[in-house]
Amino acid sequence: MRIVKLLLIAVFAVVLYVNAEVIAQKEDPSVVRGKKLFMNYCASCHGTDGKGSGVVAPSLKKHPPDLTKLQKGAKFPADEVRKKISGDLSSPVHGKKDMPVWGMIFSQSDITNLVKYLESIQRPYDPQPAG
Ligand code: HEC
Repeated sequence: MRIVKLLLIAVFAVVLYVNAEVIAQKEDPSVVRGKKLFMNYCASCHGTDGKGSGVVAPSLKKHPPDLTKLQKGAKFPADEVRKKISGDLSSPVHGKKDMPVWGMIFSQSDITNLVKYLESIQRPYDPQPAG
């Protein structure tokens, strides 16, 4: 009987621990939604990890950039990224201002979610020494 009690205590402790982990990792809902959009609409080119190795990447003239390295300074360039996604900054692949690709499909809030997701996957910027 004693061993059963000990086992129950052990199981209970694990359950508590796992719950605590889940709560600690609870993500920003905006990031969660952005991730879903990214997997559906962007991962084919930019890769599921955002690093640029999507399944269609090899057949593109221009290799998709690594989206985990958009941040080059202390602050994530959210405005610029937003413009690149919505087509305010022209890009031959994503379309131009007069013919945006994503700006027509996504609502403003979904673009915000995508930008937040991209911000969440940035790797720490590692400044290369000049030269
Ligand atoms: C058809 C392939 C393709 C798809 C799909 C695609 N991209 Fe891109 N993306 C590219 C390529 C190629 C570039 C680089 C050339 C350019 O700027 O047009 C790029 C550039 C970008 C940039 C600018 C990166 C920089 O270095 O400034 C961002 C941000 C971006 N994509 C986000 C997205 C998001 C978000 C989605 C999904 C909504 C998406 N892309 C879907 C191919 C794609």
